[in-house]
Amino acid sequence: MVDVRILVTGGTGQLGGAVVARLRAAGEEVRVLSRRAAPDVVRGDLRTGRGIDSAVAGVDAVVHCATDYLGREAELARTLVEAARWAGGPHLVYVSIVGVDRVPLGYYRAKHEAEQVIASSGLPYTIQRATQFHALVRTLFAGASRLPVLPVPRLLFQPVDVRDVAARLADLAPADPAGRAPDFGGPEVLAAAELAQAVAEAGGRRRRIVPVSVPGETFRAYTAGGHLAPEHREGKITFAEYLAEQADAGALGYRRR
Ligand SMILES: NC(=O)c1ccc[n+]([C@@H]2O[C@H](COP(=O)([O-])OP(=O)(O)OC[C@H]3O[C@@H](n4cnc5c(N)ncnc54)[C@H](OP(=O)(O)O)[C@@H]3O)[C@@H](O)[C@H]2O)c1
Repeated sequence: MVDVRILVTGGTGQLGGAVVARLRAAGEEVRVLSRRAAPDVVRGDLRTGRGIDSAVAGVDAVVHCATDYLGREAELARTLVEAARWAGGPHLVYVSIVGVDRVPLGYYRAKHEAEQVIASSGLPYTIQRATQFHALVRTLFAGASRLPVLPVPRLLFQPVDVRDVAARLADLAPADPAGRAPDFGGPEVLAAAELAQAVAEAGGRRRRIVPVSVPGETFRAYTAGGHLAPEHREGKITFAEYLAEQADAGALGYRRR
């Protein structure tokens, strides 16, 4: 069945790559946007607008996974919305983060603004917020495999696998617009200390993990669980399963026997 044409922005990234794989496996016709010239991509830049009109032309849906870590997320969304209007109004599916309106981080504020750009665009849209990806949580605690004593913040995480989020996005894109979709979270809510210990052990080491409180309003928002969706544990792949896969692939500098 090849009937829906879908553009994936950020299709060369971590999540977008998984979305592209999932959609293609489902028989959808997919176009990938990238700023870099590469085989099988449409070249364009959502910051300058270069190439975006032709990338969006003729598609039924856009899964917007491209992101800007320098606070220009809303700018990217505006460029996309403008091009989508000219292209006849495809369904815009935007990936956001659980708690962008609760945790006072600059990147989160920019994503919340981008959500509002899309929601007020007049175009058919779906906003899917997800909890922290496994790779991000692993990176946060990467020091756990090296230091003898590791201080970690006294808070919880609900890590989710990008393949699970990608499966949700691949279902949403060809469907009717859902507006703000229910949050999507990982299968377990775990203390940072447990996650750090798991990272250390996956790296073949045992470390003393010391939970610490951190001053400031951002930490308070995290402690209050602003970034969690405990009532939405839809992800299936656990953090332990992810780490085991990474170890088997030799990505942790250690291979399980
Ligand atoms: N990491 C997490 O824990 C987490 C949790 C929930 C939601 N999210 C959200 O998930 C989304 C995807 O994250 P990710 O980790 O997969 O990102 P990523 O791997 O860092 O990929 C970023 C992508 O954005 C594209 N991009 C950047 N600037 C661009 C521009 N000006 N024009 C066009 N494309 C541009 C890049 O494409 P090229 O370099 O090829 O141009 C790249 O494919 C983000 O919106 C993020 O906020 C992340």
